[in-house]
Amino acid sequence: MTHDNRPLFAANWKMHKGPVATREFVAEFTSCYEPSEDRRVVVFPPSISVEAFRLAAVDRPDLGVGVQDVHAEAAGAHTGAISASMAVEAGAAWSLAGHSERRREFGDDDRLVSRKVQRVLASGLLPVVCVGETLEERDSGALTEVLERQVAAVLSAVEHKAHGDLTWAYEPVWAIGTGRTASPEDAAEAHAIVRNALAGGAGAALGKGATILYGGSVKPGNIKSLMEAPGVNGVLVGGASLEPGDFAAICKCPLG
Ligand code: PGA
Repeated sequence: MTHDNRPLFAANWKMHKGPVATREFVAEFTSCYEPSEDRRVVVFPPSISVEAFRLAAVDRPDLGVGVQDVHAEAAGAHTGAISASMAVEAGAAWSLAGHSERRREFGDDDRLVSRKVQRVLASGLLPVVCVGETLEERDSGALTEVLERQVAAVLSAVEHKAHGDLTWAYEPVWAIGTGRTASPEDAAEAHAIVRNALAGGAGAALGKGATILYGGSVKPGNIKSLMEAPGVNGVLVGGASLEPGDFAAICKCPLG
């Protein structure tokens, strides 16, 4: 697969918006955001709303859709879980993996995240792998070590030829849903650490060309300065992506 390195604007709806609210969102969002060749837009609704999104946005192939998580196994007795191939059937093209809420609430550790990424790739979905440090880790000086460990775990589980299919999201845990955003300088520093770790594990060219998103309290008011930060290739937006006008304003950010 050739890596599409246009900037990526992604919405993570978390546990918000069932099929009805999803259809309403698509109607409103498509009236205020026109297709644009120079960027990509992907929405991660709850998995139960993926098909509703795809059907409502049938005239908008520029809008990608993905799931927020899949089970590491292909199928089986796993009540409540969804598989990567089901996500494909429902119209998903992407999957998040390793979001900090999954790591914290559901025990998705580095090993499980890596297995999920393998499953996502095997099913033909494109993974967005989330990495990031807690405030405690940052304050204790462990930023580099944590990011390197999270990146290395996934790279070592994935065949070299698939390294280019991975998209990354740096999401400092202390900036998620807190209203506290990393400064553009903080984001640039962390993105450089992730990029170096990728270069070390996957090769210089892949490190250089990787798409690395920033996530954590992204809003219409701070999108421009974050997108201008060196090494930031897009954003993963939680709270502000629930409102169609706000997410459209974010997606229309002028590109330098
Ligand atoms: P937030 O969430 O924008 O609400 O901080 C981002 C995320 O968790 O992906």
